[in-house]
This record gives sequence, C-alpha cells and structure tokens, in this order.
Amino acid sequence: MASQILGPFEGSGLNFLNFSGKTLAERYEDFNHWGTLREEQNVWPFGMINDNRRPLNFGTQDYLGFSVNEEVINSLKEFINSNQIIHSAGSPTLTGRTIWTAGLEEKIAFLLKQKTALIFPSGWMACFGAVAGLTNGKDTIVIDSLAHNCMQVAAKYSTKNLFKFRHNDMVHLDEILEKCRKADDNNGLFIVTESLFSMNSDSPDLRRIMELAHKYEAIVIIDTAHDLGVIGKTGLGALETIDIQYAKNLVICGAFSKAFGTNGGFVAGPAEIRKHLVIMTPTYIFSTGASPLQCHVAGKSLDLIFSEQGDQLRSKLKELVDFTVKKFKKNGFTLIGKPTQIIPVLIGNERIARMMFREAFSQGLMVNLVEFPAVPKGRAIFRFQLMATHKKADIEKAIGILRNAKEKVENSLTEMID
Ligand SMILES: Cc1ncc(COP(=O)(O)O)c(C=O)c1O
Repeated sequence: MASQILGPFEGSGLNFLNFSGKTLAERYEDFNHWGTLREEQNVWPFGMINDNRRPLNFGTQDYLGFSVNEEVINSLKEFINSNQIIHSAGSPTLTGRTIWTAGLEEKIAFLLKQKTALIFPSGWMACFGAVAGLTNGKDTIVIDSLAHNCMQVAAKYSTKNLFKFRHNDMVHLDEILEKCRKADDNNGLFIVTESLFSMNSDSPDLRRIMELAHKYEAIVIIDTAHDLGVIGKTGLGALETIDIQYAKNLVICGAFSKAFGTNGGFVAGPAEIRKHLVIMTPTYIFSTGASPLQCHVAGKSLDLIFSEQGDQLRSKLKELVDFTVKKFKKNGFTLIGKPTQIIPVLIGNERIARMMFREAFSQGLMVNLVEFPAVPKGRAIFRFQLMATHKKADIEKAIGILRNAKEKVENSLTEMID
C-alpha cells in the first residue's frame, strides 16, 4: 500500500497507478489519502482556482495577454450583439461547421501558407487528431520522447510501429528513420515533434528534420502550440526556420489556447488531408465543433497577432524575457533551455520544490511546480511563464519571493539535519 509508505513530500502519481477494487472509494483510497496528506501540508498544487488578472500570476499560458485584451473583448461583445449566436451545436463533420469556423480555417491556412485547415474545440483534440487521423496500423511513427501527451496518446492509439527518439537528437532520429525505412519501404513513416517544448524551453532543428523527411520519404507533423504568434520576426516561431509554403510532406497543428486568448486548435496542411480528417478523426467527428465565440476570438486575435500590434507585443515580451532571465541568474537560480516566455527554473529535489511552492504560494505567487513524471526524477522545476502584460516590478517581486522561499526552505532543512 503506497499510502502507508509515502508522506506528503515523497512519491508521485505513478506510485498509485496500480489501483484496484470494485467500489470507487476502495479503488482510489490510497491516492486520496496521499493527496489529502499533501493538501494538509499545502503542497498539492493541482486543480487550484486561478485568475489570469492577478499580478503575481506566472503560471498561465496567455503569453500575449489576449484573454484580457480590451480590443478582443470588445470585438466579442459586438460579435454577440450582431450575430446572436453562441454555440455550434453539432459535430463539424455534420452540422457544427459554421461560417465562422470556415472563416477561421481560411485565415489559418493563409497564415501558414497551407492549402487547407480544420478547426477543433481544443488544441489537444487538434494535435491528437492530426496524428491519429492521418496514420493507421501499417504506418510507423517516430516521435520526440518529450512530445506532448496528445500526440503520444494518438501515436499509441494508431500503431504498434512506434519509436521514440531522444529529445531533439537528430542523430538518433536519423538512425531510427533509416532502420524503419529499411524495414518497410511501402507505408507511411511519420516524424512527430513540437516547435517549442514547454518543459525545457527548447526547439528542434526543424531544417534538419525536413532534410531527414526528404531523405526517408517521411511525413512531418509539428505541434506549434507554444511559439506560434509569440516568437520570431514574423511571429511564426520555429516554423520561420523552414520553408512551409505548400510543403507536400508537412502537417502543422497547434492550439489557440496559448497566444490567441481562447480554447481551440487547428490542423493545417496539403488539400489531400481535408476529406480524410473530416471523416476519419475521432476528435473531429465525435465532438461538437468549436463555438462561434471561440472562432471569432481566435480570428480576431490572429488579425492582431500578425499586425504591428503583434510585433510590439512580441518585442515587449522579449524585453521581459531578457529582464527575467537576468534577474533569475543574478539571484542564483539555474535556468533550463533557451530564453523564451517559458522559463524553467531548476530546483531539483522534489521535497525542496514542494516546500518552496508552499512558501511562494502563501505569499501570493502563482507559478507551476512541475515534478516527476512530467520531468525526470530529481529535476523538479518551477515553470515560470511570462505574458506581455506583466510588469517588471511584479517580475522582480516574484523572483524575490522565490529566492526567499529557497533560503527559508534550505535553512529549515539544514536545521533539521543539525
Ligand atoms: C504542446 C502542446 N500541444 C497541445 C496542447 C493542448 O492544447 P489545449 O490546452 O489547447 O488543449 C498543449 C497544452 O498545454 C501543449 O502544451
């Protein structure tokens, strides 16, 4: 029984996967016990109530601040007043694809220089749909070992011919692709990755991935959730490093939930994928389509993101990133990855990280504690996420809270040992 062994500062959800029993109470008793112990110690950072508007909120992914953007909100009010409709009320395969869905499809396809685009109610559903809808059991999928859950689950759902390459390791990817192509020269070979990984704040060498795809006649699926609209000269993120225009072997998916101020996601690519996805993708067919409100907000945000206002927001965010990185380093913290709006602050030991979280949260700081298994054991991080709307004074305050929390926790542990 894990609960008899594990205290609130030990273990992870993985210790409780082997639940059993006939009743709900019985099945989840151990996990509930452990969760309650953590809750009692204020080290249960899951499912909390948050508000994007609180100044010390460094845990949400509203990178450009569009969830509270006045122009977007006013435009939504006008949209509701003039159209008097709020719900799509059907699967997009049948009746739930509205004129606003179609309008957003067109904008996304144009932005990404693709022939077609499909809209989903969430980014998870879109990226799952891209992988699960475009592949079948005869295909081989080679996926970055840290790719998001939506694509890992989709790959498992689709085929047993599934290989993981070491995170961003192009030599390993090359080796696996070579073996896979040798083993099967007739069926689909898919490379699945992200353009910006949110646990490590790093990007793959997309140019090399496209070269390898060409070499092995593979198809590439890239999830752009975290950098589309947020990074780069034109706002296209790591996609700026490759030629995406009407590429025949490329599918781009992503989420509106990070930069675009609303739930929702998309899949864009060559014309041939459209009919197939409409009929073959479970997350498209068997779920009600994105609402007119989502489509309107995503479309309005897109217009702003890829305008002068977007350029200004991106350069403001970049200035805040440079400022924050400098401050963290000055305060003795170790950071992971490249400087982006996602700043993974390495803490390491889970006990220390949980105690620091408790201390920081009690001072009003909202920052995500990420622990094993989301990151390797002993590599707990605070994922400090910036928005273009943050103030430098609040960033300094937040870093000060984390530094004080670290000192306090380290001192209390030293006293315990002494
Ligand atoms: C890389 C990546 N892809 C997809 C998703 C899912 O997006 P959504 O939250 O819009 O469903 C996320 C969500 O956090 C993500 O980080």
